[in-house]
Amino acid sequence: MIRVGQGWDSHRIIAGRPLILGGIEVPSEFGLEGHSDADVVSHAITDAIIGAIAAGDIGMHFPDTDARWKGAGSLRFLRHACDLAAEAGYEVGNVDSTIILERPKLKDFRLAIRESLAATIGIPVDRVSVKFKTAEKVGPVGEGRSAESQAVVCLVRSSSRS
Ligand code: C5P
Ligand code: MG
Repeated sequence: MIRVGQGWDSHRIIAGRPLILGGIEVPSEFGLEGHSDADVVSHAITDAIIGAIAAGDIGMHFPDTDARWKGAGSLRFLRHACDLAAEAGYEVGNVDSTIILERPKLKDFRLAIRESLAATIGIPVDRVSVKFKTAEKVGPVGEGRSAESQAVVCLVRSSSRS
């Protein structure tokens, strides 16, 4: 009656783009490179939901060669993944995610990001967790060259299907 999914994503840091995390623009001197808005945590959660229903992966549903998705807000991908889960008979129970980024400090934006993700998914904010970590100056994330995100979701059978 439950399904678990896991997602991971990474984007290169570049100057001149906004830093969008969970649909929220966080004040920053740099943003993330990507075909879409490069919202790394929305991509990780989207992949976790798609994974939980064994429906492929985010690139299969939103190919970066498809002009339709160029510059697309990634909350659209997340919403679409929730719709795919609903078609398969599942709804999102809870989400736990981590954003790994050396700077800026993100904790003041935690509630805004959680509220944005929860509203997109259509569940209460107390079922959406967003954690932040540095990489302790080690590796591409620690050297400030990229950002990563990981997510785990639990899907539960839709009440209308039970
Ligand atoms: O990576 P580290 O364990 O040093 O992170 C300590 C805390 O700093 C985290 O638990 C998180 O609350 C916060 N943090 C943050 N923004 C980041 C990285 C970490 O707010 N970009
Ligand atoms: Mg991505």
